[in-house]
Amino acid sequence: MILLTGGTGYIGSHIAVELLDAGHQVVILDNLSNSVCTVVDRIKTISQKEVEFYKGDVRDAALLGVIFKAHNIKAVIHCAGLKAVGESVSNPLAYYDANVYGSISLCKAMEQAGVKRLIFSSSATVYGHEAEPPYMETMARGSASSPYGASKAMIEKVLEDLSSSDPQWSFSILRYFNPIGAHPSGYIGESPQGIPNNLMPYISQVAAGVLPELLIYGNDYPTDDGTCVRDYLHVVDLAVGHRMALQTLEQPGVHYYNLGAGKGVSVQEMVDAFILATGVDVPYRFAPRRKGDLAAFWASSEKAERELGWRTRKSLVDMMVDTWRWQQFTSSENS
Ligand code: NAD
Ligand code: UD1
Repeated sequence: MILLTGGTGYIGSHIAVELLDAGHQVVILDNLSNSVCTVVDRIKTISQKEVEFYKGDVRDAALLGVIFKAHNIKAVIHCAGLKAVGESVSNPLAYYDANVYGSISLCKAMEQAGVKRLIFSSSATVYGHEAEPPYMETMARGSASSPYGASKAMIEKVLEDLSSSDPQWSFSILRYFNPIGAHPSGYIGESPQGIPNNLMPYISQVAAGVLPELLIYGNDYPTDDGTCVRDYLHVVDLAVGHRMALQTLEQPGVHYYNLGAGKGVSVQEMVDAFILATGVDVPYRFAPRRKGDLAAFWASSEKAERELGWRTRKSLVDMMVDTWRWQQFTSSENS
């Protein structure tokens, strides 16, 4: 049995389906602060399997005690947390509390239950402004550009110190690049609250007519077409990476893996690819740079390929088509 925190969220729900499809039993803990409980039914519909669900918070020690007592949990995948970069600047305490304290609370409960295997959702943001792409796991963490990024770096350090204090622990720290797309079934995907901050949901909402136009933040970057470059990967590939990372937990210590496609795509290329793949127009115009954005970064995905046998399989077309299918599903549900 695997405990999956944040399992009704965007990435967690895809991990749940991937684990169930592979024959694992899954128990989800999520406080539904950024997701809805109908996702549990959708996970069951897609996988045709049962999944246990607890509505609750990773900072609730009593509830964690109940869960570890009730289930024979072998490993934990910890996706629960807050992730809006801008919001973390205006409300840092909420971010350190949910992310850093939440992870400490979870590790305490695991220690008490004698479960010492954890996969953690980290981010490429921990490499900071100083790093030159491609980012490699051997690079040191850089200075964080936001409390959100700092919270991820702090959690990584907490896990490292825990491992040094007790060599029975094994951690797999997965640094995600830019996950996009949705499950090909069209039943689960990303549901940002309000106006999206991230590129892909913004593109799909403009295409659907929910938003009038896309602003491309900056066309004067030192990149081929002047727009920012990122490493986008399909969320289903990301979920597969978690299943494959379970094997690393057999070895005590701290294991780091970048989960990215290993190549950069510009904002302009993303817009063009969406229009080409879906045949739907996306009105856009160029706007000033967004504060805090880096010109270009992408992963070295060699370590994940070498040690996990993982690499991305899905194409940019898959990412666009699956995002659009999901957008149409959510638009039809809301109408
Ligand atoms: P999400 O918001 O869709 O999912 C997170 C889930 O955690 C939500 O369902 C939310 O209700 C739940 N949650 C939040 N705080 C909680 C708490 N204290 N207790 C219990 N549940 C709680 O976000 P996501 O995109 O699926 O991200 C999952 C993880 O991956 C996060 O830790 C995020 O920081 C990390 N990450 C995401 C991205 C990305 O681009 N989406 C990139 C890098 C890292
Ligand atoms: C952002 C976060 C990162 C987080 C990730 C996933 C920042 C600085 N970084 O990454 O920490 O892990 O989201 O949640 O916020 N863009 C537009 N127009 C838009 C939206 C985005 O041009 O309306 C551009 C951005 O300038 C950027 C690219 O698209 O160049 C990707 O943006 P986004 O999807 O927000 O991801 P990141 O900034 O890479």
